[in-house]
Amino acid sequence: MSGLFISFEGIDGAGKSTHIQAVAERLRAAGRDVVLTREPGGTPLAERLREMVLHEPMDALTESLLIFAARRDHLQQVIEPALQRGAVVLCDRYTDATFAYQGAGRGFDLAVLLQLEQWVQQGRQPDLTLWFDLAPEVAARRLAGARVPDRFEQQPAEFFRRVNEGYRARAQADAARFVAVDASAERDAVWRSIESALQARGL
Ligand code: TYD
Repeated sequence: MSGLFISFEGIDGAGKSTHIQAVAERLRAAGRDVVLTREPGGTPLAERLREMVLHEPMDALTESLLIFAARRDHLQQVIEPALQRGAVVLCDRYTDATFAYQGAGRGFDLAVLLQLEQWVQQGRQPDLTLWFDLAPEVAARRLAGARVPDRFEQQPAEFFRRVNEGYRARAQADAARFVAVDASAERDAVWRSIESALQARGL
């Protein structure tokens, strides 16, 4: 069985974390080897870098370099070996998040991000990206009071509007890889659109 790499994307509060868990359970119940992981993070080194990125003040280039450093370690230690042995890798965020948050959100140079993407990933992209598309006002209402916000979650609605548009631009540039999920729908309806996207990929 060949491996499959699926990333889950969307602004904070869009609901991807709930559904990624459900997808993992469903695929495990069907007998698949599933690796559930996240970015930034997924290895001891990358988790340490995540702590810094989410909590220490830094400029957008430093942030991008740390995120791509974490991604490099994650790819080498976890993602590539899992795909080689035929596992399904479910990743809570991947490089589209860097284009959306650092690129569109913080206004960092997209040409530099494209260069870093090439160096770090050597062409490795998800086979499928589920993008939870949600208006920032709705996401903010869902997040309100839910937890102590990190550096990104503290940003104003205008930041998340740019991030969501950043995702839309990535989705339009690579329409074959992306499936846009209407995250404003009821949880069951969101789940059904995820199920049909997985079925279309033979899962
Ligand atoms: P998130 O995935 O929302 O995890 P949790 O649900 O545990 O808070 O948090 C990761 C944060 O990191 C999120 O606010 C987006 C940000 N991020 C970037 O800015 N760039 C990236 O490339 C990635 C992967 C994440």
